[in-house]
Amino acid sequence: MQEKSISGLHKLSKEEKMHWLAEHYTTAPEETLEVLRSFWHEDKELQRVMDGFSENTLSNYFFPYGIAPNFLVDGHLYAVPMVIEESSVVAAAASAAKYWLNKGGFKTKVLGTTKLGQLHFSWFGDSAKLQKLMPELRHQLLEDVQHITANMEKRGGGVLSIELLDMGELEPHYFQLRVSFETCDSMGANFINSVLEEFGRSLQHFMSSHPAMHAHEHEVEIIMAILSNYTPDCIVRAEVSCPIEALDDACINLDGSGFAEKFAKAVRIAEIDPYRATTHNKGIYNGVDAVVIATGNDFRATEACGHAYATRDGQYRSLSRCRVEEGVFTFWLDLPIALGTVGGLTKLHPLAHLSLEILGQPSAPELMSIIAATGLAQNFAAVRSLVTTGIQKGHMKMHLMNILNHLGGDTSDCLAAEAYFQDRVVSFSAVREFLDRREEEKQKTPAKAS
Ligand code: MEV
Repeated sequence: MQEKSISGLHKLSKEEKMHWLAEHYTTAPEETLEVLRSFWHEDKELQRVMDGFSENTLSNYFFPYGIAPNFLVDGHLYAVPMVIEESSVVAAAASAAKYWLNKGGFKTKVLGTTKLGQLHFSWFGDSAKLQKLMPELRHQLLEDVQHITANMEKRGGGVLSIELLDMGELEPHYFQLRVSFETCDSMGANFINSVLEEFGRSLQHFMSSHPAMHAHEHEVEIIMAILSNYTPDCIVRAEVSCPIEALDDACINLDGSGFAEKFAKAVRIAEIDPYRATTHNKGIYNGVDAVVIATGNDFRATEACGHAYATRDGQYRSLSRCRVEEGVFTFWLDLPIALGTVGGLTKLHPLAHLSLEILGQPSAPELMSIIAATGLAQNFAAVRSLVTTGIQKGHMKMHLMNILNHLGGDTSDCLAAEAYFQDRVVSFSAVREFLDRREEEKQKTPAKAS
């Protein structure tokens, strides 16, 4: 155990780190080194940039980068870049995009772009007095962060509001400043955190020097200053809608009205049952995450936000809703999502950069719309499959191809397997047996011929 621990790994060169890891944690060190090296980028400068995104970097981890075409969003046609390892997600997005292309496409509305941060502090003082002093404190705080906010203000952003919350009933002497921000096209994490930390220093100075404060009120303990990833007011709505007769082509066994009702029921189930809601929302995030990653954004932040929002009334529910009214089917998604299209990885990662070019250099609100449309498309495709053919049909075809690739099947094996498994259950062992049988037949055939 002891000899497997190390201090100062970060100080070693990349080669040294790799050797250390391979020798201490893998059974075939030379092979490990070979695998790690085989994923290095041949462009050394680019590899250096990639290494810099994280720490103790040894190699790159590949994920497929694909494209879902035919996304009509607010009248603009997009080919949406997606990074995802799950088979059938890109195919599902592309099929839903194509389906809605001739039915008016996706309509979106950005309902808000406000981001949030919190300064958490302990204070043994008179809460009502501090509340009264808020206008003065607010003025002071804003003045003290001018050096940080000036540039953002020039771009139309900055601090929007500062609210004092006395949370003493939940945790003794605990207060927070809840601060809202507009960060324009940047995700704004660094900006928000810098402002909040400066607010902390400014608050301490205000309390210790204000004449209205008694001696015991001079001290403020700053507990932490950090943005909140819960941004319910940074939110976009994406919607598809059509007369129910236009859904006649959605399923062979149901007319448009039957399909619309069954689909809407499936969405209502996800609204009332958290177990289904989790899977339903996972399907939405299949689409959302793939574009968030492709554009160099933070998928952990956007997922955390969406799931918190899904629980906003105390129960976890679907993020999308469906209505069938007066002969019209409407399906929509409210997606709270804080994104950036400038700064961070969007500039540094060549594929994130390319994704934004492919999307026409969108502003952050435009990217919110594109991503919400992709999430809704994904959700439509999944629920449509679930209430019609069942999900396994599409999944299994992809799954079959993955297994065939893994087992070294060639093109003719793939074609034969596709036909064979049309009405059979796909499993790893079933595909292996199928290939073994084919191999046996291949062996027998030349013998017969001679
Ligand atoms: C699989 O990755 C996603 C689905 O389970 C989503 C859903 O059930 O709605 C198909």
